[in-house]
Amino acid sequence: MAVTDTKSPIVAFKPKHDFPPGPPPVGTNPLAQLRFGLRVTGDPLNVMLGWFRQYGDIVHLQFGAAAHVYFLAHPDHFHTVLVEKADQFHKSPSYKDEKRGLARILGNGLVTSDGDYWRRQRKLIQPAFHARRIEAYAEEMIRLTRHLLQSWQDGKTVDVNDRMMWLTLAIVAKTILDTDITADTEKIAEAVTVFQRLAFGVDIFPLWMPTPSHLKQRRVEKAMNDVVAALITQRRKVAEDRGDLLSMLLNSVDEDGQGMTDKQIRDEIVTLFLAGHETTANALSWTWYLLAQHPEVEQKLHDELDSVLHGKPPTLADLKHLPYTEQVLQESMRLYPPVWNMSRQALADVEIGGYIIPKGSEVNLNTYAMHHDSRWWENPERFIPERFHPDRQINMPKMAYLPFSAGPRVCIGNSFAMMEARLILAAVASQYRLRMADGQPSVKMEPLIALRPQNGLSMIVRSRTHVG
Ligand code: HEM
Repeated sequence: MAVTDTKSPIVAFKPKHDFPPGPPPVGTNPLAQLRFGLRVTGDPLNVMLGWFRQYGDIVHLQFGAAAHVYFLAHPDHFHTVLVEKADQFHKSPSYKDEKRGLARILGNGLVTSDGDYWRRQRKLIQPAFHARRIEAYAEEMIRLTRHLLQSWQDGKTVDVNDRMMWLTLAIVAKTILDTDITADTEKIAEAVTVFQRLAFGVDIFPLWMPTPSHLKQRRVEKAMNDVVAALITQRRKVAEDRGDLLSMLLNSVDEDGQGMTDKQIRDEIVTLFLAGHETTANALSWTWYLLAQHPEVEQKLHDELDSVLHGKPPTLADLKHLPYTEQVLQESMRLYPPVWNMSRQALADVEIGGYIIPKGSEVNLNTYAMHHDSRWWENPERFIPERFHPDRQINMPKMAYLPFSAGPRVCIGNSFAMMEARLILAAVASQYRLRMADGQPSVKMEPLIALRPQNGLSMIVRSRTHVG
């Protein structure tokens, strides 16, 4: 059960113009910066949890001569940044760095853009995510899940993370581009993964230097851009609505009758590929991992699925009769939020929790820390899907659970993802249970833009008709 009072006594009486406490400043010495960077990127979740424990809800770090970086984990502060003062924040410059940041691969798509340009694009793209439009994708989601399951048999060992990535990639390829998964679509996925590592890792070499990693980046970037450019050219020639998102992007016009250029469409497609495939795949992977360790939760899930589906694949209409299936996913995304951190830059001096955050500072919203905080979650490390039973959700502080964020920049694919994840979980769990494979090393989290299991997730498939 969650606690309702979210007012933090730690920061309430601090003077306004001090910097909040935090780790010692990291000076201008490049070696010291590198050492610090390696320590944080090596284990960001634990390093940051340690800071919150030591310094409180607002942690301040001075990096270099003038960069002020803040780390926040309190629901009220999420509300300030994402909702109440959302217009005073932009995405962090680290996202927009066209050489080493996400913008190198995503360009100026919905995730990386800001201001009036972002508002226009969001308005143009929003209709593609209307309930009726996405409900039409349910059958494809089930068809592709059944296709995956055809290659599973009792006793087989599979890398579940890899298979969930394949499945959600096949689903975005079909729903965004109306194409089956091919070597070409896999090129987009490969590029997206390579550039996440670039954006979240430490690379001390200048980009012009032909290191193996830089050469790989150039190769996958070019391969991906060629695939997407060819797709757009081909589809512009035949102007028809094929029911996919690309048709909507190609046909959309704003109030001034302006459509999108090829570059804008390219950026939005790649953005939707990144945002729409890894997040859902990781949410599902962590769910299989948790179910394998909680047979009592798994049993309750199976009971619900068996009584509603009677061994048949799920349909969209079944979802409203599968509340526990949804609660299992919600709780899994609390423990392993696929987007574990969100970064912003303050456009003006902004007051948060009694402190003035100076204009230009970077603000990091740590969803992982908030989802594991014992002030809002009783036994925060335990997997208890019943927390999300509607009767119990009433007691939950509103902003303490934000896997899809909140406010104007809330995930545009929220309903799409929840429909997809519920259908996949129901279709797979009604036929199979998954257990950790012998020899699977202990599962570590790798927090890139999405929180993923570091070395995949090797599991054994057990057919439910063979196991009691
Ligand atoms: C379990 C699955 C998913 C989770 C947990 C998730 C989570 C999030 C979060 C937290 C954000 C806000 C990031 C920020 O502001 O820094 C976001 C934004 C976004 N998501 Fe998702 N997402 C999921 C699935 C999807 C899917 C399936 C799509 C599309 C097919 C999608 C498309 C986007 C886009 C385009 C944005 C940027 C929206 C904007 O800023 O206007 N996401 N997502």
